[in-house]
Amino acid sequence: MRRITSIALLLTLFCPGLGSSQEEAAAFLGEPDAARIEALRTAEISEVTKGRGGRSLAFKITLADGTRGYFKPKQAFSAAHWYSEVAAYYLDRELGLHRVPPTTGRTFRWSALKEAAGRDERVSELGIAPDGTVKGAFIWWIPEPLKRVRMGRKWERWVRIQKALPVTPYQRPVDYRADLNRRPGVREATDPSRPIAQAPDTEERPAELSDLIVFDYLTQNVDRWGGDFTNVRSRELGGPLIYMDNGAGFWLGEQRLGLMEARLEALQRFRRSTVEAVRNLDIERFSAHLRADPLAPVLNEKQLDGLAQRRRAVLEHVNAMVTRFGEARVFAW
Ligand SMILES: Nc1ncnc2c1ncn2[C@@H]1O[C@H](COP(=O)(O)OP(=O)(O)O)[C@@H](O)[C@H]1O
Ligand SMILES: [Mg+2]
Repeated sequence: MRRITSIALLLTLFCPGLGSSQEEAAAFLGEPDAARIEALRTAEISEVTKGRGGRSLAFKITLADGTRGYFKPKQAFSAAHWYSEVAAYYLDRELGLHRVPPTTGRTFRWSALKEAAGRDERVSELGIAPDGTVKGAFIWWIPEPLKRVRMGRKWERWVRIQKALPVTPYQRPVDYRADLNRRPGVREATDPSRPIAQAPDTEERPAELSDLIVFDYLTQNVDRWGGDFTNVRSRELGGPLIYMDNGAGFWLGEQRLGLMEARLEALQRFRRSTVEAVRNLDIERFSAHLRADPLAPVLNEKQLDGLAQRRRAVLEHVNAMVTRFGEARVFAW
């Protein structure tokens, strides 16, 4: 029964002419997902190397048909949630944002990855099952060297009506806490020597950053603004923002986190179409897509309910902003 449901859903998701127009349009920056998802789900491994640059132990895998993917396995490290990467992908498509690279759940045999991992200490953190398999998020590899979006300090003025914000919540959780509790004379965690943000590098950047804050609030991704904005990138200089590294979300515990509330509260300008997409988000349909993933159900009831709560919170916050500042200023784009 589940198999039939999955096939029907895959058909509506990826076949033109079936399903709603939003589902037909499943794409990453205008490039259709269908063939990439199919390859990520089914093609055999041809080459594996260990990933570089992140805290998680992940693998860059070339498949037999030439498709490349980044496999982020189940890992017992607090910010490496394979299910968050997968759920973020489906949510991005559901909202029509098209910024998360095509992603699917997949299971590999550990023996196929072991050699590439070598003697990496993080192997002990991986969730290798007794049958020798390991599940994880398999993310389409973006071929271009990714470009950092340079913003500078106080960039958040771009997404605010009131400019002043004593402590920015758009920084690493530990730095935010340190700055909140900072005593006079102690240096700010937000490096004061960094240049102050000038004009955004593109006209659309403020709207894109506003969307990203809304998206991360919904997915509960706490890890966006650290490491000199390493997780704020584009495929080409001045190109559209992509949402990569979505593993620190969809927490199993608390569904509303103080830091994330502060990040939402600080956001005062919105793209009208994004707010509409959040309003129209059909959580039942979203969860049906998760149930069609090879690693279904991906999220549990508590996590889905948390998403519903956070969706309501976004809409309430937008309403409060409109009451305070008026539609024209809040819906800036
Ligand atoms: N889908 C992708 N396409 C291209 N490069 C990627 C992709 N995913 C990750 N990378 C590269 O690998 C690095 C680490 O990945 P990331 O998802 O940030 O892992 P972590 O969760 O460990 O921080 C990134 O900084 C980027 O350079
Ligand atoms: Mg990272």
